[in-house]
Amino acid sequence: MPPRQPFGQAWRIILLGAPGVGKGTQADLLGERLGCCHLSTGDVFRAAKGCGGSHISPAMQAAVNYMHRGELVPDRTVLNLVEERLRCLKCSGGFLLDGFPRTVAQAEAVEKLLAPQPLNLTVVLNYELPVEKIVTRISGRRICADCKRVYHVQTQPPKIAGCCDACRGKLFQRDDDQPECVQVRLAAYEHSTRPLIDFYTQRGLLINISAEGSPEEIYKRTRLLALTR
Ligand code: AP5
Repeated sequence: MPPRQPFGQAWRIILLGAPGVGKGTQADLLGERLGCCHLSTGDVFRAAKGCGGSHISPAMQAAVNYMHRGELVPDRTVLNLVEERLRCLKCSGGFLLDGFPRTVAQAEAVEKLLAPQPLNLTVVLNYELPVEKIVTRISGRRICADCKRVYHVQTQPPKIAGCCDACRGKLFQRDDDQPECVQVRLAAYEHSTRPLIDFYTQRGLLINISAEGSPEEIYKRTRLLALTR
């Protein structure tokens, strides 16, 4: 059953939370059930990386290098990328922003991008999980090289080890899921992204949601706390 929607309004949702908390997993469930446009800046950078060499601009190559080290990509590069995809923010079915905004400057830019249109954010979902569980989720993540489906070696294993259930593609571990990169990403989150919790609390948009339990349990919790008003 689809969640109740504010009358005449599409869902315009930002997903916040530390790296590996499960934002992408929830975005897939929410996108499927709410029919929103899903924009993940991390997926865009990874797709650019997949194109390789001469096919990507110098700015995008620089962004891929930041990502490889686990550092945040500079705001200007991220905002250029989002401005190129402005149709996602204007989508009549609403949007789910996953991994963006990630700094206060990016959040202020979102407000400016939305201001000329009669489009307000519906809610900001802040997923919370203790850091040791986050590290377990990240270290066990595997991704299909072909269809990009996400697995976890313990909690969501494929039927055949190393092989995608959906397309038989080979599973791999993201470069930035290596332990030294994970520490850099967690530090970037604490320094640059955690301040968005206050930013959106002050605007009355933030809802904290525990990311404990299975993806379906978290989805149901999200629906109860944030989608049925
Ligand atoms: P991005 O791709 O956004 O990575 P992230 O925020 O670090 O988030 P992750 O994709 O690692 O995790 P997730 O929360 O989506 O978890 P998932 O659902 O996969 O960004 C990557 C990089 O790009 C950044 O480091 C930066 O360099 C750059 N970048 C991107 N956007 C940027 C921006 N706006 N500004 C600047 N730089 C930017 O789940 C993780 C694992 O756990 C999976 O294996 C999954 O199967 C498993 N799992 C999920 N849910 C559960 C559950 N409930 N129980 C058990 N296991 C679960």
